[in-house]
Amino acid sequence: MPLSGSGTASDGWSSRTAFVLAAIGSAVGLGNLVRFPAEAGESGGGAFVLFYIGCVLLIGLPVLLSETLIGRHGQASAPESFRRVAEQSGSSPRWEWVAGLAVLSCFLILGFYCVIGGWVLHYIWLFLEDLFATGISGTAFQGVPASEVEGLFPAMIGNGMLTVSLNLVFLLITFAFVMRGISGGIEKAAVWLMPAFFVLLIGITIYGAFGGAFSRTLDYLFVFEPEKLTGPVMLAALGQAFFSLSLGVAGMITYGAYVGRNVNLGGTSLVIASADTCVAIIAGLCIFPIVFAAGLAPNGGLGLMFQTLPHAFQEMPAGSLIGLAFFIMVGFAALTSSVALMEVPTAWVIEKFALARPLGAGIVLVGGVVLGTLSALSTGALAGFHPLGFIGLFEGQGVLDTLDTLTSRLTMPVAALLTVIFIGWIADRRLVDSENGLTGVLHMTFMLLVRWLCPLALLAILVVGLFPGLLGG
Ligand code: PFF
Repeated sequence: MPLSGSGTASDGWSSRTAFVLAAIGSAVGLGNLVRFPAEAGESGGGAFVLFYIGCVLLIGLPVLLSETLIGRHGQASAPESFRRVAEQSGSSPRWEWVAGLAVLSCFLILGFYCVIGGWVLHYIWLFLEDLFATGISGTAFQGVPASEVEGLFPAMIGNGMLTVSLNLVFLLITFAFVMRGISGGIEKAAVWLMPAFFVLLIGITIYGAFGGAFSRTLDYLFVFEPEKLTGPVMLAALGQAFFSLSLGVAGMITYGAYVGRNVNLGGTSLVIASADTCVAIIAGLCIFPIVFAAGLAPNGGLGLMFQTLPHAFQEMPAGSLIGLAFFIMVGFAALTSSVALMEVPTAWVIEKFALARPLGAGIVLVGGVVLGTLSALSTGALAGFHPLGFIGLFEGQGVLDTLDTLTSRLTMPVAALLTVIFIGWIADRRLVDSENGLTGVLHMTFMLLVRWLCPLALLAILVVGLFPGLLGG
């Protein structure tokens, strides 16, 4: 059964460019625009950024290539691809459970990612309203006290009706692309939205470079202070690199399954990882000049995007228009990621139960609505509901935070760890060699990293993630 569920021809990317754009679309998302700048800001700027680049090249990239090659070789949903590669390597078909765990992670992430995507939609609406009120050249939210602008965020997340509806809208937009298949839907999202995303990102960065505090940002992001590179900072950088490259969730196995045999996976993985990392760094160069120019301190977490930035746009010329452009850009990035998050379980459902694609995607949509509604309410009416609160790691966490912790600390690192062990030690060497497109020194380096450095780093993420006290974090 082809993954498209069309029953006729196997669906796939129409070109290498389409695959690269879709994979970059999956990687570039809220992680790059919200988490990376906030973590870089909190965790010591330059030291964090440099260490992050090292993590991407030495650990993220080999895992990205490992996942993509499993998908391309298997040409099926993630668990089935894993099973095929395992069987051809003379190993147990039970390896499919590793990908099964990754598919589950993807679904769990979908259950909170679209809630945040919905918040972005709300801010697009707020800035649109503001633009109509103030005109193209006006600063944002004129005459409104800064505390009220920052207060828009708690007011929004505390309003259950609003957050539940926003999540639904974001999920439905995602579904509209996924139900149309790879070349007819998912690829279209990437080919239209990613170029628009890049234009907006570069445009707003140039605006900030001329109108904002750019040199202070350069100091902030690039001055290297090695003493700030503590154990928890290193682990945070490593975990962020994994989330940002969409690893450990079968995203690249699934997207890899639609790639043609003629595509060189080694070179293509490098392009994807580089683009994702450049976007994360440019996002810092885009956000901080605006924040610093307004005389604000770069706080961490979601507050940076949803409170500090709207406040900063109050001080900037044309802040209303730029604020709108900014949140549209974030919305595009979040959408191409949520499409990937929905596609991974959809590909599995339509293959496993031999369903037509719209029906399979519809089932995942319903699951996403249920989980997303619980997440959306966890910042309001269900704030006191802590589903795994009896376990220390999840103490005091509502559904949204529980899903985030569960995936980033447990399921994603476990799946990624087992994937590199599989590729490094279990899978047939000739199969791996023929798929990865690497030769000579590059090939040797890849094998060395996949066999040793990646498993050790993932084990560290896992152990410290589960027992944060070990590093005092
Ligand atoms: N990489 C995305 C981000 O940085 O926001 C998140 C993500 C998307 C994770 C798609 C996993 C995935 F399959």
